[in-house]
Amino acid sequence: METQTASQKMANAQDFLPINGTDYIELYVGNAKQAAHFYKTAFGFQSLAYAGPETGVKDRASYVLVQDKIRLVLTTPMHSDHHIAEHIKKHGDGVKILALWVDDAYKSFEETTKRGAKPYMEPKTLTDEHGEVRLSGIYTYGETIHMFVERKNYNGPFMPGYEKWESNYNPSSVGLLYVDHCVGNVGWGRMNETVQWYEDVMGFANILTFDDKQITTEYSALMSKVMSNGNGYVKFPINEPAEGKKKSQIEEYLDFYEGEGVQHIAVATNDILSTVKELTARGIEFLDTPDTYYEDLLDRVGEIDEEVAALQKLKILVDRDEEGYLLQIFTKPIEDRPTLFFEIIQRKGAQSFGAGNFKALFESIEREQERRGNL
Ligand code: FE2
Repeated sequence: METQTASQKMANAQDFLPINGTDYIELYVGNAKQAAHFYKTAFGFQSLAYAGPETGVKDRASYVLVQDKIRLVLTTPMHSDHHIAEHIKKHGDGVKILALWVDDAYKSFEETTKRGAKPYMEPKTLTDEHGEVRLSGIYTYGETIHMFVERKNYNGPFMPGYEKWESNYNPSSVGLLYVDHCVGNVGWGRMNETVQWYEDVMGFANILTFDDKQITTEYSALMSKVMSNGNGYVKFPINEPAEGKKKSQIEEYLDFYEGEGVQHIAVATNDILSTVKELTARGIEFLDTPDTYYEDLLDRVGEIDEEVAALQKLKILVDRDEEGYLLQIFTKPIEDRPTLFFEIIQRKGAQSFGAGNFKALFESIEREQERRGNL
C-alpha cells in the first residue's frame, strides 16, 4: 500500500541542488529554419532569439522559440564535420539538452560532479550588454545533457551570443504554459542505475513506480519510475523495456534513436480542450484512443468537471492519483523515426500520474508500432 502522496514523497528530495524549473530544451535537428517554422505554425511558439552566421556564430544556427514559460532551442550545424552533425546522423532529430534553471550554476556543477556526474561543460560566465549568464553542464542518460543555467543577472532575450529574433510571421499561442515533465527511455537493465543516479547525483526523489505487471498488454511490457526534485517543478520519468511476447515500444525507440534518450516532452495547459482543438486544426496528429476507454471512465476516475463526450471527441485521457485528477493526450512522433513525441497535460490537483493512462498510452503506441511493422 502506498502510504505517502506524491507531494509528500517530493519532500524526500535533497536540497543541495535547488532547481526553479526547466530553463530550455534544445533539439539538434537537420534543418532548424524549417523546424522553427513547424513549431511556430503547429505548436504556437513565438520567435525569441537567434544565433548564427549573421550574429558571428559561424558553425551553427540556433533558433529560440518561446510560449509562456517554455523555451525551445533548435540547432543545426553548418557542416558535416561537427559534433552536432554526428549527433543528428546517429539519432535523427532529437533532444540534446534538458536545461535547468538554477540559482548558482557553479555550485550546481560542483555538487553534482562531486557526487559522480560526468562533466559536459565546466562552469563559465557569458556576458554582453544585457548582463551575464552562468552555465555548466553534466551528462545524464545516453548522450543527453543537463545544462545548469543561472540568469538572475541577465535581462536580454535569451543569453549572450544570441540576438533578438524579430519575425513578421507570428502565429498565435495554443495555450501551452510550461514544461511539466520530460521522459527518458533507457536500455535493458538500466532503470535502477538511472534512478539511483537521479537520487545520488541530483538529490531527486522517486515519487512513483510502475512495474511490468501494471504496464503490460497482450504483447509487451515496460517499467517506469518517476523522479522529481523537491518542489516538483522538474519531473523525469524513466522507462525501461520489459520482456513480453513481442518487441516493447521502448525497445523500438532505442533501436531507432540508436541509444537512450528523451522519449517525450510534456507541456501543460490550463484548457486542454481548446489547446487540443487548436493543435488539431494546425495539423498535429494525436494518438487514437478506443471508444471503450470512455464507457466506464467516470467509474474509474470519479467526478470530473469536463463532459465525457467532449473528451471522447478529442481522445483526451483522464486519470487520478491521491491528490486529484489530470487530463492528458499524446502526439504521434514528430519526426519520421518513431522516437520523440509530445504530451499535452492539464493537472487538476494530481501531482503524479495514473497507471490507467499509462496503459492506454502503451496500447495506443503499440497499435502504431504494429502499423510500422516494428511490433
Ligand atoms: Fe508523460
